[in-house]
Amino acid sequence: MAKVYAIISGKGGVGKTTTAINLGTALNNLGEDVIILDANLTTPNIGIHLGAPIVPITLNHVLNNQAKIEDAIYEHESGTKIMPASLSLKETERINYKNLSNITKKLKNITNHIIIDCAAGLGEEARAAMNACDEMIIVTNPEMPAVTDALKTIKLAEEMNKPVKGVIVTRYQGKKTEMPISNIRDMLEAPIIGIIPEEDAVKESQVMKNPVILTHPRSKSAKTYINTSKRILGETVRFEPQSSKGVFYIILKKFGFR
Ligand SMILES: Nc1ncnc2c1ncn2[C@@H]1O[C@H](COP(=O)(O)OP(=O)(O)OP(=O)(O)O)[C@@H](O)[C@H]1O
Ligand SMILES: [Mg+2]
Repeated sequence: MAKVYAIISGKGGVGKTTTAINLGTALNNLGEDVIILDANLTTPNIGIHLGAPIVPITLNHVLNNQAKIEDAIYEHESGTKIMPASLSLKETERINYKNLSNITKKLKNITNHIIIDCAAGLGEEARAAMNACDEMIIVTNPEMPAVTDALKTIKLAEEMNKPVKGVIVTRYQGKKTEMPISNIRDMLEAPIIGIIPEEDAVKESQVMKNPVILTHPRSKSAKTYINTSKRILGETVRFEPQSSKGVFYIILKKFGFR
């Protein structure tokens, strides 16, 4: 059965859009039919991350019943389908957010996975996406402010009777100043389904306007995103070793060379 996932965080800038495009592309590469929706309508990101040209028909038009759903779906060069939001300020006025649920319902007839990239915060935009989804995927960084906002998001999900599929910790560096993964799991009381390291590869991929799983397929972030997408499909995939420092580094450190 088709599923709608909202990629949500509470806190801004934690890696939601990066996660949405990489999970969407990873699922597409695994043979799944996917559409990524840019529901960050006031400050759209998907087109910027994927270099999508300014398109004539967007999610904004569909929300306001000015266009058909099919006409707002575009195929990125990677083969992943996206429904961008409008970059025009004028078209972000008077959006009928409530219509998002009708759109995702209809999309379920034409695809298997609908991934909604949500706006930051828990305002009207984010809540519309929460309403329109079947399950939420929470994105956080391993820092107290981000995890606190993730917890607020999970509490709101409970109030709305929306299940949480899991938590993805992004920009993980394994530093002592970060919150340990076990603490994040305990505080959020939700399964961790992905740990994505902080890597230059992700920043480079953004400049290249493509998901990191395509631009740097051998990077750790690419591998961890692919494994996370497999977990979403229900596969049991072992977690990757979390230290970015190899055994050689650890031995050197032990003997005082680092
Ligand atoms: N694993 C990573 N390693 C390094 N940089 C990362 C990683 N993940 C995300 N970033 C960078 O962090 C910044 C924010 O990422 P992104 O735009 O995906 O966040 P967001 O949660 O969608 O933000 P917003 O709330 O504004 O929509 C971007 O510059 C992105 O390249
Ligand atoms: Mg974003």
